[in-house]
Amino acid sequence: MSQPQRLTLEDVVHRYAGSTAVDRVSLDIEPGELVALLGPSGCGKTTLLRIIAGFIAQTSGRVVIGDRCVDALAPRQREVGIVFQNYALFPHLTVADNVAYGLAARGVARSAQRARTAEMLELVQMAALAERLPRELSGGQQQRVALARALAVQPRILLLDEPFAALDKNLRLDMQIEIKRIQRAAGITAIIVTHDQEEALSMADRVAVLNRGRLEQFDTPSAVYDRPATLFVNRFVGSVNAVSGTLRSIDGARASVELAGGLRLEARAPSVPIAVGAEVVACVRPENLRIVETDAGFGGTVEIGMPLGAIVVHEIVGDDGRRLKLAEPRQPGVEPRAPGTAVRLAPVAPETVSLFPAP
Ligand SMILES: Nc1ncnc2c1ncn2[C@@H]1O[C@H](COP(=O)(O)OP(=O)(O)OP(=O)(O)O)[C@@H](O)[C@H]1O
Ligand SMILES: [Mg+2]
Repeated sequence: MSQPQRLTLEDVVHRYAGSTAVDRVSLDIEPGELVALLGPSGCGKTTLLRIIAGFIAQTSGRVVIGDRCVDALAPRQREVGIVFQNYALFPHLTVADNVAYGLAARGVARSAQRARTAEMLELVQMAALAERLPRELSGGQQQRVALARALAVQPRILLLDEPFAALDKNLRLDMQIEIKRIQRAAGITAIIVTHDQEEALSMADRVAVLNRGRLEQFDTPSAVYDRPATLFVNRFVGSVNAVSGTLRSIDGARASVELAGGLRLEARAPSVPIAVGAEVVACVRPENLRIVETDAGFGGTVEIGMPLGAIVVHEIVGDDGRRLKLAEPRQPGVEPRAPGTAVRLAPVAPETVSLFPAP
């Protein structure tokens, strides 16, 4: 097993004719770390992976693997394994030959090819199907072969571009666990591209959130979820109630905001400087609201209640017409509150309210 490598992107920019697909992205990925690159369609995820692998030369900035800048190296010299979204297995080659392909191309001796291929097929639990053709495999099995093929040549970095897009939900979960296990076992630094926030949060050591080519936040899954750096991250990762207001004061870690209609809300102090008196958006997640018995908080009535298995979600229409979502753990046998029920809602704690500059 080779030593895991650090992967560093320094101020990487990529412009296609006219449009900027990657905009000054800097990332420092620890050896052996699994990072999820998360963002909506078109935000530059694939472009960034292709830059790291060497299939696209970036407009500016540097890619460093270990302590070596790889910008002048061809894809094969970079020792980066990439699994494309569509697996791209060779249809006329067996599973074993697909896995051995990169080894053969590198002139590895046949006996060593066989040994390494067997080891990789064992790792992805596909040894029993070594002689099958890709068309005789399920999507998840093809996925594992593609992974074995990428790992066979002992890449220093593993890149996975939306590897689960074609899989159904249960198989997806199996493969997520599987890839994490394999990535750990192989001790390899990896980036997985996804636009599925749950996948990013569940798999990654750290999540890089990309929006229109820009890195909005790079942090642990919990930090991204609990302390989103931007309004975009707050909306894109998880769901949110967003209401506008005016920043009234900041005191250390706390801030106070006045919502339209006069209601005061205590919040976490914004992570970017915002002037007192400025317009802000206050965000609180549905599970961070609760029903209160006092006359504090937002008044409203239940419009609809949805029992979603583990949680129950109520859509509340405020007295001012504002709509809020409330999510609570669901008690077995307890039905959602009836439409028309009057309730008052308040955040569970000021830390759960995030403030951002009004867009
Ligand atoms: N070869 C190209 N020429 C011009 N523009 C391109 C090219 N490839 C991608 N783009 C543009 O660059 C932007 C980023 O594309 P990219 O494929 O990196 O997005 P993505 O985040 O991978 O999206 P998706 O989730 O849909 O795969 C998009 O606006 C896209 O239209
Ligand atoms: Mg893509």
